[in-house]
Amino acid sequence: MSGYIHLQIVENAEDVARIAAQNLCAQIRERSDAVLGLATGSTPEATYAELVRVHRERRVSFSRVRSVNLDEYQGLDGAHEHSYRYYMQRHLFDHVDMRSWNALLLDGTAVDGEAECRAYEERIRALGGVDLWLLGIGSNGHIAFNEPGSTRDSRTRCVPLTAETIADNSRLFAAPTEVPRRAYTVGIATIMEARRLLLLATGEHKARAVAAALRGEEGPHCPASFLRGHAECTFLIDRQAASLLES
Ligand code: PGA
Repeated sequence: MSGYIHLQIVENAEDVARIAAQNLCAQIRERSDAVLGLATGSTPEATYAELVRVHRERRVSFSRVRSVNLDEYQGLDGAHEHSYRYYMQRHLFDHVDMRSWNALLLDGTAVDGEAECRAYEERIRALGGVDLWLLGIGSNGHIAFNEPGSTRDSRTRCVPLTAETIADNSRLFAAPTEVPRRAYTVGIATIMEARRLLLLATGEHKARAVAAALRGEEGPHCPASFLRGHAECTFLIDRQAASLLES
């Protein structure tokens, strides 16, 4: 079945974070053992900060929540400051009552990468699938590390990163040469199986990718465009990220 993307344009990045956190909290209140799909990167940081704030006010508990992350750099272990496990600890897990065994992330140091990817898909299935998956979008239209060229039926695998992604992410590393060249990522098919999707985008640097995803031709050249085939997908974006959408 093909759906259409709900487009929610708000004033600024703070509004995106507040509304994204409200969506996640609503999901947890609906089902205390909800399976949340989580993303890393600069965009969701404010959403996690808001979730931590709401948790501290005792308005939401993560004690039964399960989570699944999108991706992880190959070669980085969870204690590495640039690993996505470390990111999740720092921005969310260390500050809420989430149980560590309920947080699923890909192991960037897996000796048998293919087995790791197969097991990840199986674990998601064993959880009963993802209720709500938070997503970002790359300036090249990627979702998770599904870079341009990724197909609709792609599954969890290890991929080379594009030069654009390495350049985008190098701002977080001491030098561009330190950005890992490969990463583990769930596939587009894996993401599309979630019951609901919530993609966040803020800032003018995302406007081109957002326009391509929503208005361009659907296909592997812009992996986020495949989300148009999902029955329950919302793009929650600020005015700057929406600036290239025709009204
Ligand atoms: P960003 O990354 O939030 O750091 O811009 C998003 C992404 O690459 O998916």
